[in-house]
Amino acid sequence: MGFPKNFVWGVASSSYQVEGAWNRDGKGLSVWDTYVHEPGHIQNQDTGDTACDQYGHIKEDIALMAEMQIKAYRFSISWPRVMPEGTGRINQKGLDYYDRLTDQLLENGITPYITLFHWDLPYQLYTKGGWMNRDITDYFAAYAETVVNRLSDRVKYWITENEPQCYIGAALASGEHAPGLKLGKKELFLAAHHSLLAHGKAVEAIRSCAKQASVIGYAPASWHLWSPVTEKAEDIEACRKMTFDAGEEPIGGTSWWLDPVCLGRYPDTTGYSYEAYIPDTTAEDMKIISQPIDFIGMNVYQTYRGKAGENGTCITIPNDPGYARTNAEWPVTPEALYWGPKFYEERYHKKLYITENGLSNQDWIFLDGQVHDLQRIDFLHRYLYQLKRAVEEGISVEGYFHWTLTDNFEWTSGYNNRFGLVYTDFKNQNRIIKDSGKWYRQVIETNGEII
Ligand code: NOJ
Repeated sequence: MGFPKNFVWGVASSSYQVEGAWNRDGKGLSVWDTYVHEPGHIQNQDTGDTACDQYGHIKEDIALMAEMQIKAYRFSISWPRVMPEGTGRINQKGLDYYDRLTDQLLENGITPYITLFHWDLPYQLYTKGGWMNRDITDYFAAYAETVVNRLSDRVKYWITENEPQCYIGAALASGEHAPGLKLGKKELFLAAHHSLLAHGKAVEAIRSCAKQASVIGYAPASWHLWSPVTEKAEDIEACRKMTFDAGEEPIGGTSWWLDPVCLGRYPDTTGYSYEAYIPDTTAEDMKIISQPIDFIGMNVYQTYRGKAGENGTCITIPNDPGYARTNAEWPVTPEALYWGPKFYEERYHKKLYITENGLSNQDWIFLDGQVHDLQRIDFLHRYLYQLKRAVEEGISVEGYFHWTLTDNFEWTSGYNNRFGLVYTDFKNQNRIIKDSGKWYRQVIETNGEII
């Protein structure tokens, strides 16, 4: 028992959060480049201008991964680095960078998993209406084609989009993320529909252009998740229902993003009618959106806890006083990695990867020059224990990607949340493998036997 022989142990990152080089070698602007330079959006006025400068540190970062025995690296491509205006002109130097990254990963026995879109929308496309403009679905497919033409001789694993809840919800509804809009419901639903359609068109583009059989996934945020506080059938059922209820804020819910892709329809809602807002979608759109994919990528950090209330409703249990939490104040709830995969597999019957999981912690360099992050080891141990339980029960989770390799730019909280297995000194770009990185290496070497 334990983890299957070919279980993929990886780390994940994203272009804007690690690359830096925001205006080098012909890269165009993204909405994040412009947003961070306006005052008031990001804690401490931090920017991703330099971030971890992975652009200039490919060798070092891959050497760190190799030292930790990491088998796979999930990274994203910056759309405006490859296509500065988002459409049309291709920046060869941008593609060259991803060529080098891919080649060096492969030379070190590390499998690339490429995410095509992790929020850094070309600014020029934003000025054309961004996700509100249906043309973006074709621009995205053309961009996907460009990348796939260049890299698919060596790359087999693709993820179309990461966490649409954030680049649609947090970016266009609550206005926290770039470009910081607060749209009305109708425009929001339209943007959400376009993002789903763009995903579907990208899947078609990958399948038709790839130079080898591709394995394609999609990675929405999996925070809309309820885990039962007991294993009584009614508590499990109440939590399962709650997890997939599109509820009052459908765009935040899991089913809003996964039902169309995996089941070919928008979800049912309770207590809310989205029909008034939903764009006039055609059956043809839904066919494209629900192109078969090979796996669902789950980004799992936490779960709500629930139990059955009256008439099958779910009562959310509040956190205990002084509950265990991370530096970002997220509760430590390891059972997310058991119930999440279980519920997803039951509903969608797809293979799963944990495409993100991790925590931010108050890490610093100790007097002995090392970074002793006991909390991260304990967190990882508890979460992986629950994942192991899921896998041993036959739930098909193919791999686990820890978020993240190096401490990096954490969006609106800038550099205040350190998520890495490797410490980054942002003054001089020195890296130090934290104790958790050394511990993760043992997990990988024993294929999870130490869990
Ligand atoms: C989800 C996002 O995909 C990633 O960009 C972010 O840094 C982590 N979660 C942690 O918040």
